[in-house]
Amino acid sequence: MELNELLGLEIDLRIPNHYNELSSDEMSCRILEIKRRLGARLFIPGHHYQKDEVIDFADIRGDSLKLAQICAEIPEVEHIVFCGVHFMAETADMLTKEDVQVILPDMRAGCSMADMANIEQTEKGWERMQKIWGDTIIPLTYVNSTAAIKGFVGKYGGACVTSGNVHTMLKWAFEQKERILFLPDQHLGRNTAYKLGIALEHMCIYNPVDNEFKFDGAWEDIRVILWKGHCSVHEKFTPEHIKHVKLRDPEIQVIVHPECIFNVVQDSDYTGSTNYIIRTIEEAPAGSKWAIGTEMNLVNRIIAEHPNKQIESLNPFMCPCLTMNRIDLPHLLWSLEEIEAGRVVNRIKVDPDIAKYAVLSLERMLELS
Ligand code: 13P
Ligand code: SF4
Repeated sequence: MELNELLGLEIDLRIPNHYNELSSDEMSCRILEIKRRLGARLFIPGHHYQKDEVIDFADIRGDSLKLAQICAEIPEVEHIVFCGVHFMAETADMLTKEDVQVILPDMRAGCSMADMANIEQTEKGWERMQKIWGDTIIPLTYVNSTAAIKGFVGKYGGACVTSGNVHTMLKWAFEQKERILFLPDQHLGRNTAYKLGIALEHMCIYNPVDNEFKFDGAWEDIRVILWKGHCSVHEKFTPEHIKHVKLRDPEIQVIVHPECIFNVVQDSDYTGSTNYIIRTIEEAPAGSKWAIGTEMNLVNRIIAEHPNKQIESLNPFMCPCLTMNRIDLPHLLWSLEEIEAGRVVNRIKVDPDIAKYAVLSLERMLELS
């Protein structure tokens, strides 16, 4: 019995073996041919963290905000083969028409941060928070979350955020309610709230595992409830890395993604979304020196695109995001050939009952972005 059958899943987890025996050139040629044959019926969005062999075939590259905006506006298309991770494909499915088929080339391309918040935990925690603070809380979720969490947030009047609009969204949320529940990335929530002037003692951490809160001070002073989740990639940058590069060369400027821990963001020269990082380096003068704290596929690409600038990863032992890296040439080719054969594999289809509310949270975000 196949693994997916054993798990009771209606998805193809395993790519046929012969794909792994093909050369890169052979796969690239076949992908280009399929793209040519399918023309405007096919759209391939690619997140900046995708590996080069895959991003080369993307019709558009972007961060999660840009890719969500594009999917919301895309005209006639039959198939979206999403080169990114699961929550991004879910978002694309919810923002496109019913008959558009959104496909994730490898179902194992998840996001460990999104997996840190499930709906049962969220409902249980929310019940507790309502008992403590009453109807004073608005939920916000980073788009790096499941459709079910987006649905929860939409149902209770909240919205999604991405790293590209998080300041705007937090300001908006504080105009709606006194307190914010921020899921699932504690670091993005803390870093942004702090920049907006909320003191650390006015934030608490909610641990979904034991349904407990961690903070010093008084319950009534809490303005931001931070879900205890994190990105396992961005947590690998430390203040010691910054000390080390600055000691080696004081002219090096440090730029990091706001999923990094608080002290890293505090000690760096610049912090911002994926798009902000790309733009800042593009606009920097020739000869400038940079250490970047974000995902490694992207850092390597930035280095290659700017030979006239001295750029390195803030952490010399950094790896790419493993789940983003699940999407590779064999999986891309397999999903495209299956489309042509009329057998759609790995379709991402969000339950309409969940999508109904999740779309609300996405639309609130898109309206304000
Ligand atoms: P952005 O694309 O919003 O910068 O997010 C980074 C990320 O971690 C995507 O998974
Ligand atoms: Fe998730 Fe972090 Fe990978 Fe982004 S980089 S997909 S947040 S694990």
